[in-house]
Amino acid sequence: MAKRNLESLQKQYAKSSHGGPGGPGGPRGGGPRGRGMGGKPKNAGHTIARLLGYLKPHTLALLLVLVCMLTSTVTSLIGSYLLSPVINHIAGVDMGTDASFFTELADKIITAWASSAPMTFLSNTFGLSGPFPYLLAAIFIFAVIYGCGILASYLQARLMVHITQSSLERIRNDLFEKLQRLPVRYFDANPTGETMSRFTNDVDNIDHMLSNTLTSLISGIITLLGTFVFMLTTNLWLTLITVAFIPIFALGGANLAKRSRKFYKEQQAALGAVNGYIEETVSGQKVIKVFNHEQDCEEEFALLNHDLRGKQYRAMFWGGIMGPIMGNTSQITFAFTLGVGGIMMLLTGFTPGELTVFANYSKQFSFPITNIASQMTTIFSALAGAERVFAVMDQAPEQPDAEGAIDEDTQEHDGIKGDVVFENVTFGYVPEKTVLKNISLYAHPGQKIAFVGSTGAGKTTITNLLNRFYDIESGSITIDGIDIKQYSRDYLRRNIAMVLQDTHLFTGTVMENIRYGRLDATDEEVIAAAKTASAHSFIMRLEHGYQTKLEGDGANLSQGQRQLLNIARAALSKAPILVLDEATSSVDTRTERHIERGMDRLMKNRTTFVIAHRLSTVRNSNAIMVLEQGEIIERGDHDDLLALRGRYYELYTGVKELD
Ligand SMILES: Nc1ncnc2c1ncn2[C@@H]1O[C@H](COP(=O)(O)OP(=O)(O)O)[C@@H](O)[C@H]1O
Ligand SMILES: [Mg+2]
Repeated sequence: MAKRNLESLQKQYAKSSHGGPGGPGGPRGGGPRGRGMGGKPKNAGHTIARLLGYLKPHTLALLLVLVCMLTSTVTSLIGSYLLSPVINHIAGVDMGTDASFFTELADKIITAWASSAPMTFLSNTFGLSGPFPYLLAAIFIFAVIYGCGILASYLQARLMVHITQSSLERIRNDLFEKLQRLPVRYFDANPTGETMSRFTNDVDNIDHMLSNTLTSLISGIITLLGTFVFMLTTNLWLTLITVAFIPIFALGGANLAKRSRKFYKEQQAALGAVNGYIEETVSGQKVIKVFNHEQDCEEEFALLNHDLRGKQYRAMFWGGIMGPIMGNTSQITFAFTLGVGGIMMLLTGFTPGELTVFANYSKQFSFPITNIASQMTTIFSALAGAERVFAVMDQAPEQPDAEGAIDEDTQEHDGIKGDVVFENVTFGYVPEKTVLKNISLYAHPGQKIAFVGSTGAGKTTITNLLNRFYDIESGSITIDGIDIKQYSRDYLRRNIAMVLQDTHLFTGTVMENIRYGRLDATDEEVIAAAKTASAHSFIMRLEHGYQTKLEGDGANLSQGQRQLLNIARAALSKAPILVLDEATSSVDTRTERHIERGMDRLMKNRTTFVIAHRLSTVRNSNAIMVLEQGEIIERGDHDDLLALRGRYYELYTGVKELD
């Protein structure tokens, strides 16, 4: 691979990166984060309705949250309003005729409370006089009001966390459940990283929206309306002036948000490219070392990284500058309001207490407007994420089992014997390309059938059809004379033990991994199966024997050892049909022969399909099928095929020479 320039690197890696497992999201808080974000929801209404469906079990709690929000907003508004009579009182302003209705009302309440029994008692005890009893009473009322506000905020936060986290739990569960039901075909078309990012980025974005954005949006709107009402009751003219400034904030906010969104998007793409590049170089580290590409990699990475730096700088700058700019603009309104209010105070009966309160309100009035403008971005990207999650949930699952499919051993059908027949089976993974053409074959119970042929001939595909990873378009496959579609998938797969070509081990002990083949097997049975698979001796040499923990697909084992564990797993199963797809391709010939001897016992009463590239292992099969480009070109037992002097003869003698 020649060294690539920035442009081509970005093109390749921004796309190849899907936010793999544990893909880093951006910084928490402040704006949308994570990779694979962005995009506009195609049908926001529908997506919102569906998200609401997840919130529905919490309707009552949500109503409570709304009440709490109202309470905390209103208490904060009222609380600041109380300043008006207090300041007037201290300043000695006569509120008799000029002050607004609410200021007078608040004054009356405080005065009444100040002359109540407990308050007079306290005042007398401390010897308070002048404005101080009034102040003391006001402080008490402040405490009660803000106490209510704090309680409401606390409740709101608790409830919201509960609602959000249980809804997310259900979303993740639904998504995971769906994944387990998707046909193998889905995983062919969707890379692992892509699917992972549904769980990581997208769910994360929904989380962020539900737990932060939504509440701050709603409380922002409530604050806005509440402030407006209180401003109106305080002073009509000043309110009009403040409202006149709204367009500046709205436009300014939207404009800044748009700009920072643009840079944010660029930054995300650059970050995606860097992450994609890292992913690939980490997983391909050995190959990079083998071919001495470290230097090139470093240079390519530096290019991408430098580009990220520039874009991140711009995104951070515009994202960070937004708050200060809007804050300073609101100071201008503040000063302007104070000026006009001051003049009004001199000319009309506007009181200093009211001016203070109004100035406060006008200051907090602009904040929600700017905020709402920027929150929309987060909401859109979360909705787009939710849409992608729902799209996976809406994927067609594996076709349901046929009506009345055989699901368990019954009187009429007491277990599968293993009589397998393929008749004129034609199949392609994609419609454009036929992979298997007119395959017909049979295997009687207990027989061993082998498939040989070059890579890509279609050997694995045949086994994929037998256990219904894929369904065939034409022809038929029967077991014991019954079409495999007449068995439930569970039942069918329970009756076929498979060693897949792509081995996989799960996180857990060696014992647990083998037991995966039959969950009710005893330890002794597991060990017996390991012996059959010639895995016992190497397992005993592991540090903790059968209790050795395997991680990351058995990264601490050799490829051959992994295969042995997979064979042991199949050996544990009592299924009447056994499929071994290149099961021993990575073990040495001596061990292989060992396994064969062990397996012979196992295969005795089972129908076995063996795929092997080492022809010595298939010699004793009842029938050998030679596949070439999806067709069986030769068949017969070992001697027949040698006598034929065809492809098998070529393969066999070729291998012999190499041996
Ligand atoms: N999941 C898949 N999607 C599309 N094509 C596939 C898939 N798996 C295999 N193929 C194609 O089918 C053909 C047969 O593959 P396979 O049965 O795996 O061959 P073999 O096991 O004989 O090496 C190949 O041309 C391969 O490219
Ligand atoms: Mg194969």
